[in-house]
Amino acid sequence: SVRAPVVTGPPRPLPVIAAEVVSCTKCELAKTRTNTVFSRGNPEAKLCFVGEAPGADEDAQGIPFVGRAGQLLDRMIQAMGLDPEKDVYVCNIIKCRPPGNRKPEPEETDACIPYLHEQIAVVDPKVIVALGNTAVGTLLNTKLGITKVRGSWKLYRGKIPVMPTYHPSYLLRPSAQQGEAKKQAWDDLQAVMKELG
Ligand code: URA
Repeated sequence: SVRAPVVTGPPRPLPVIAAEVVSCTKCELAKTRTNTVFSRGNPEAKLCFVGEAPGADEDAQGIPFVGRAGQLLDRMIQAMGLDPEKDVYVCNIIKCRPPGNRKPEPEETDACIPYLHEQIAVVDPKVIVALGNTAVGTLLNTKLGITKVRGSWKLYRGKIPVMPTYHPSYLLRPSAQQGEAKKQAWDDLQAVMKELG
């Protein structure tokens, strides 16, 4: 099913959206979260990374991608020659941690996604990197898996180029295929660097 995002007029300033998120009770995750997790990095950045949902470390600190996956993400960003604080904006599909790090339920994503659409409208990045199946599926309205869609440009809302690639958590998993996946992720990030010019 295609869940069309609700179009809500001009985006509000980021601090206004962030303040609403802090007190949001639109889904059940509000009951179990420690902190909401809005973003990190630079809202003026040309490059935006979108992950899935906060994990335990992110929930504890209220900042996205601060755990092991986040440390790998920062190394990937640095390998691109970019500064994780100055050159990128980092956020997630949903703002609250699902218990036990389960995948977000469709009703949780539906409740939360307007915040992300508004965030992206304000930041207006030149390029988005969608990390993993949840980000790719939600931003691009596709059920195709990451292995099928990674590495080729798609468009978010018909205008912002999106590069789908593996989620850093996936790259951290021990498996025979991870070497190849890392190479592919690096190819994807090099395509992003080229697009950014
Ligand atoms: N994984 C995500 O998708 N987002 C985070 O913020 C941390 C881990």
